[in-house]
Amino acid sequence: MTSPISVDIWRLSLGDLRNYASALRWCLSESEKKRADRFVFERDRTRFIACRAILRGIIAQSLNIGPADVVFAYGNKGKPFLERHALFFNLSHSNNEACIALSAGAALGIDVEQIRSPTRNRWMDLAQRFFSVAEVQALSDMPERLQSDAFFACWTRKEAYLKLHGLGLSLPLDQFSVNVDPDSPAELHSSEWCPDDLSRSALYDLPTSPGYRSAIAIAATASVTINDACISGIESFPFFERV
Ligand SMILES: CC(C)(COP(=O)(O)OP(=O)(O)OC[C@H]1O[C@@H](n2cnc3c(N)ncnc32)[C@H](O)[C@@H]1OP(=O)(O)O)[C@@H](O)C(=O)NCCC(=O)NCCS
Repeated sequence: MTSPISVDIWRLSLGDLRNYASALRWCLSESEKKRADRFVFERDRTRFIACRAILRGIIAQSLNIGPADVVFAYGNKGKPFLERHALFFNLSHSNNEACIALSAGAALGIDVEQIRSPTRNRWMDLAQRFFSVAEVQALSDMPERLQSDAFFACWTRKEAYLKLHGLGLSLPLDQFSVNVDPDSPAELHSSEWCPDDLSRSALYDLPTSPGYRSAIAIAATASVTINDACISGIESFPFFERV
C-alpha cells in the first residue's frame, strides 16, 4: 500500500515580513543578493528577500542545516529545487500574501492570487486568453456574483498545476482543464497535455486571508494530508531568532 503524503503549508503576511528584509538578507546566496538588487521597486525587493529567506529557513529547519547552506538548483523555466535532497517545495506571492509548500513525499506547485474585481467582460476576455474551452464555458455559465471568485479559483488551480510541472507557459493552458466553481473542491478535470496526470496528481484549494484564492497541485497517487501553518510575524518563526 502507498504511504500517505504529508504537505506543510506556510502562509506569510508580507505586510509584516517586508520590514525584516534587511535583517534577513544575510542568508541569501550571492546570486540571490544580485537578483534582489536588480528589482526597480523597493516593495518587490523586500518581498523577494523576505520570501527567499523564509523559504531557506523552512527548508533548512527540515534538513537540519543553516538557511545560508541551502543550495538551490533551477529547472529550464526557473523552478527552484533541491538537487541533493528528496524534499519538494514551491512558493507563490500576490500583493501582501505569500505561501510556501513543503513535502518530503511528492513534487508540488502552489499559487496564491489576490482577487481583483474588474467587469464581467474583462474576466471573459482574460478567460478566453488563458483558459480551456470547457473552462470558458463553465465560467460564462456562472452567476455574475460568483464570477470573480470563479475566475481566481480557476486561475490558481491552473497555475498550481503549471507550477507543479515547472514548465511555465510552455505547458499550453488550453491543454488541461480544472473546475471553475469556487465553492466546489478543486479538481483536475482533464489533461490532454498529459492524460496520466488524472490518476497521478491532485489539486486542493487552500485557506487564505480574505480577498485571496490559493491552490496546490501535488504529484500524488496516495492520500494527502495538508498541514496549515501561518506566520504573521517573524517573531513566530524561532529559526530566525539569531538574526
Ligand atoms: C514563475 C511562474 C510559473 C509563475 O509566476 P507568478 O505567478 O508571477 O509567480 P508566483 O508568485 O506564483 O511564483 C513565483 C515563485 O515560483 C517559483 N518558480 C519560479 N519559476 C517557476 C516555474 N517555472 N515553475 C514553478 N515555480 C517556479 C519561484 O520560487 C518563484 O519565486 P521567486 O520569484 O521569489 O523566485 C511564471 O514563470 C509563469 O509562467 N507564469 C504564468 C502566469 C500565467 O499566465 N498563468 C496563467 C494561469 S491560468
